[in-house]
Amino acid sequence: MKTVFSGIQPSGTLTLGNYLGAMKHFVELQDDHNCFFCIVDQHAITVPQDKAELRKNIKSLAALYIAAGIDPEKSTLFIQSEVPAHAQLGWIMQCVSYIGELERMTQFKDKSDGKEAVSAALLTYPPLMAADILLYQTDIVPVGEDQKQHLELTRDLAERFNKKYNDIFTVPEVQIPKVGARIMSLNDPSKKMSKSNPNAKSYISMLDDEKTIIKKMKSSVTDSDNSVHYDKENKPAIANLMSIYSLCSGKSYEEITSMYEGSGYGEFKEDLAKVVVETLNPIRERYEELIHSPELDDILDHGAEKANRAATKMLAKAERAMGLGRKRR
Ligand code: AQP
Repeated sequence: MKTVFSGIQPSGTLTLGNYLGAMKHFVELQDDHNCFFCIVDQHAITVPQDKAELRKNIKSLAALYIAAGIDPEKSTLFIQSEVPAHAQLGWIMQCVSYIGELERMTQFKDKSDGKEAVSAALLTYPPLMAADILLYQTDIVPVGEDQKQHLELTRDLAERFNKKYNDIFTVPEVQIPKVGARIMSLNDPSKKMSKSNPNAKSYISMLDDEKTIIKKMKSSVTDSDNSVHYDKENKPAIANLMSIYSLCSGKSYEEITSMYEGSGYGEFKEDLAKVVVETLNPIRERYEELIHSPELDDILDHGAEKANRAATKMLAKAERAMGLGRKRR
């Protein structure tokens, strides 16, 4: 059985982009794969976080994973900082990384752009991400398009380590969905939908209620030609809304186009809000049941135990391969 690993940062309430581009696929994979899903809190602190908010977001993300369909009986769900081998292998991965290749990462360039002081960890985030993945002998990493470059680096680091020290790491494959890999912002279709965007109108949160979803969809940007058809190049805003519609309803672009022929954007947006509400409502209801339940701590304790067992073994192998520690008599 193949092993799957993916992580999500507790840097805010997840957006519809995080759900359609990543979490939805995690749920589909767990029946026939050995899955590890991680709340990557150590990645979140590469940019400033409010400590009370971060704690709240960690628990909230755990509840969202389960509310969206991650079954803790089938998958291992855990918090990164509760498995110290991540930071330990992260250091080793930094030692096999070159500064130049880290500086070329577009996420580093975007997140450091225009800032006077950025943390060193923002630069060394990708080697930690490589460690997250390599600790579990991962075969497949399901992620959105924005993580593709980091995954390519993970593969390079694994191959470099295997060649230089010992052939111990599985080189993982990236799995990016064909539709929904990059859900764009509702008020600027040239930017991806992001949970840490300060403008809440730019995203639909997975916990937004019906009224909020309707309001945000109504105010989402479109264009002036009033025709619902898929043209990513010339009609990026409508193309984005159509991919959300298609993923939430299961309808093809052709079906959506013929449904709204001659009716314009108003009716399309109203129905779009409905299909998004139908997708997110059951998740939000299950989330409300879970968020204050002691069951959540038990699941995370159990997940950390399982992840620690697997990760500690792999870390020891990597340390041995590099000559760290001492030889016992
Ligand atoms: N807009 C998106 N469309 C499709 N997939 C997306 N992902 C993120 N945004 C979109 C995918 O969600 C997973 C978790 O992402 P993350 O939290 O680890 O970090 P991120 O990619 O940086 O996501 P955000 O929402 O933009 O977070 P912030 O604002 O904190 O940087 C990944 O698989 C990602 O590809």
